[in-house]
Amino acid sequence: MATSKSIDRGAFRAFEHAGWENVAIQYHDAFASLTTQSIGPLLDAVSAGSGVRLLDVASGPGYVVAAAAERGARAGGVDFSAAMVAQASRRYPTVEFREGDAEALPFPDGSFDSVVMNFGLLHLGRPEQALLEAYRVLRSGGRIGFTVWAKPEEAVGFGIVLRAIETYGDLNVPLPPGPPFFRFSDPQECHQVLLQAGFVTPNVASVPQLWRLSSPDALFEIMQEATVRTAGLLRAQSREALNAIRAAIRQAVMAYQKSGMIELPMPAVLASAVKP
Ligand SMILES: C[S@@+](CC[C@H](N)C(=O)[O-])C[C@H]1O[C@@H](n2cnc3c(N)ncnc32)[C@H](O)[C@@H]1O
Repeated sequence: MATSKSIDRGAFRAFEHAGWENVAIQYHDAFASLTTQSIGPLLDAVSAGSGVRLLDVASGPGYVVAAAAERGARAGGVDFSAAMVAQASRRYPTVEFREGDAEALPFPDGSFDSVVMNFGLLHLGRPEQALLEAYRVLRSGGRIGFTVWAKPEEAVGFGIVLRAIETYGDLNVPLPPGPPFFRFSDPQECHQVLLQAGFVTPNVASVPQLWRLSSPDALFEIMQEATVRTAGLLRAQSREALNAIRAAIRQAVMAYQKSGMIELPMPAVLASAVKP
């Protein structure tokens, strides 16, 4: 998924947008039990307590906003997918979600105490611009926090799938090129990008997460039906390659069987910083 091809940000955004519009429900079914595991540490990192004005960017089905509201924060979410916003609003009717782009937030300067993004930054064509926007809408002294996946050697579910595609298929299929999916898995990169956006005292930590899947085929099916970039990669493989990839994923996943379930380590990288 990392690419050295030049990036057409508009084409990449359109590809991501169409993808998320299509998988909003499947994403919830597949990922809710996983991406919610980092919410506690993420909210702690931005001091999301009672009365804190918190914005969750790329809010998806709304989990982070709901958890922040439960802590007493004045929380809202923004996402560029109408399907995600509709789902979040249905799921958490007392909280406000609105459509908007992480790279051009529809909020005035200095209007939040905390801005968070749970597994959103790696889906953006212009992550630096999104961090500048977070900086703009934060008050002085406000905090930013984001999570991304750890590198594929640690986030085993991605490692297994990418290795299978690399071995039996083709990673260089014609998809709109985007920024490297695992760019911010590198703590050094998180430090640097936060400092460049103007934040101070960056801190990067690892959050252990475990993905419990009910069958050895679940990982392939989730990647095919509930993701955007990885699903695009799989769609572009030949039928023969896809069969071999599915078999290889199934085989690799079996090594993680425990008490009749599959348990895949899927740690997150959690980065946070302060607006001076
Ligand atoms: C992997 S999901 C994360 C959802 C949620 N934050 C969670 O914790 O599970 C990525 C989300 O980012 C949203 N997204 C992607 N690009 C975006 C952009 N440019 N602006 C706003 N939202 C975006 C997608 O619509 C999707 O809901």
